[in-house]
Amino acid sequence: MEFRRINGLPPYVFAAINARKAAARAEGRDVVDFGFGNPDLPSPLIAVEKLAEAAHNPKNHRYSASRGLPNLRQAMATRYKNLFDVDLDYETEVVTTIGAKEGLTHLMWVLLGPGDTALVPTPSYPIHLAGPGFAGATVIPVPMEDPGTFVGDVGDAFFESLVAAYDGAAVRPRVIICSFPHNPTSACVDISFMTRLVEFALEREVIVCHDFAYADMGFDGYRPPSILQVPRAKECCVELYTLTKSFSMAGWRVGFMVGNAEVVAALTKIKSYLDYGTFQPVQIAAIVAMNEASHYPDELLTIYQSRRDTLLEGLNRIGWNITPPRGSMFVWAPIPEPYREMSSLEFSTFLVDEADVATSPGVGFGEGGDGHVRFALIENEERTHQAIRQLKRTLTRLN
Ligand SMILES: Cc1ncc(COP(=O)(O)O)c(C=O)c1O
Repeated sequence: MEFRRINGLPPYVFAAINARKAAARAEGRDVVDFGFGNPDLPSPLIAVEKLAEAAHNPKNHRYSASRGLPNLRQAMATRYKNLFDVDLDYETEVVTTIGAKEGLTHLMWVLLGPGDTALVPTPSYPIHLAGPGFAGATVIPVPMEDPGTFVGDVGDAFFESLVAAYDGAAVRPRVIICSFPHNPTSACVDISFMTRLVEFALEREVIVCHDFAYADMGFDGYRPPSILQVPRAKECCVELYTLTKSFSMAGWRVGFMVGNAEVVAALTKIKSYLDYGTFQPVQIAAIVAMNEASHYPDELLTIYQSRRDTLLEGLNRIGWNITPPRGSMFVWAPIPEPYREMSSLEFSTFLVDEADVATSPGVGFGEGGDGHVRFALIENEERTHQAIRQLKRTLTRLN
């Protein structure tokens, strides 16, 4: 059969690893799974209880508001004020989305069309590279370096590449997608980077779409900046915030797009044709999560940081040396020197087949991703220790 839009998508390489993982498990092998960034930690109890209570009320079974309940948008605005000292008008500068992924995808529909171009980092979270294409536009890839091995500042390097890509583009880009802390590389930036980006976008009349999925995930005291902290950012920027990682509410599908009022109105309009919003009890529970469990992200962060330390200590001990990430929930690991003749898919397959350790092959995140595998910090310390023992047995060339 002939299809539209999906033909240009690269083969989903993660599926290959998932199949090996499933086969190993079917044989009774215990695979330690760092593959998929699907949080294993529970959602806040107070939100779960509120969800159960709200679900019993038939009034909440009806269609909800596509753009989100006013109290939910208000809770988001309050969180931005508390975290970043950014003022948001919850009526005009906040729209609720069915997770960041849905928000970003449909945002591309209103910002881009056939013939348009967008600047997108590579490697990247896959929808960043695919989303503009779904809208009929073309992606101009901008390399993102590995912060662990790059000599110099990755933010500066990315910015330089971005300017070069913009200047070299045959069709003037309308959109820049970026996301810091970055998935998969865990690259982080400071407010000075965001300031340069905003100035650049204002001068060129480009819209910046900052996916802030790891807003609350900075380690060792590092606090990821919101792009909206930059003066005048609201003139040219929108930002996606999600409860997925911050509150470990991945399955609930609650996210937001905040910032430029015109862009918020455009996304709100198209969404009013597409969906009726997240199930109302979920929205009510999300309000409670943000208002009454506002420190929950900090508790989760402590756990992720400890997992990061356990994983890196173990990998370093067996001779796989990796620089600790400053943020995100990922460790972007260069394939160790003695195995570098393998592609990331081969190496990842080798790890799952021989060590019973699942990772994501870097090539799945686009150009520039090969040469690395990604560990997601979704296994606890005990399981991580087990993975290290298995890797030590398997990676015999490391010593
Ligand atoms: C950069 C990035 N954006 C968005 C998402 C998904 O967010 P949501 O669950 O809110 O759709 C992820 C999840 O891994 C991500 O890494």
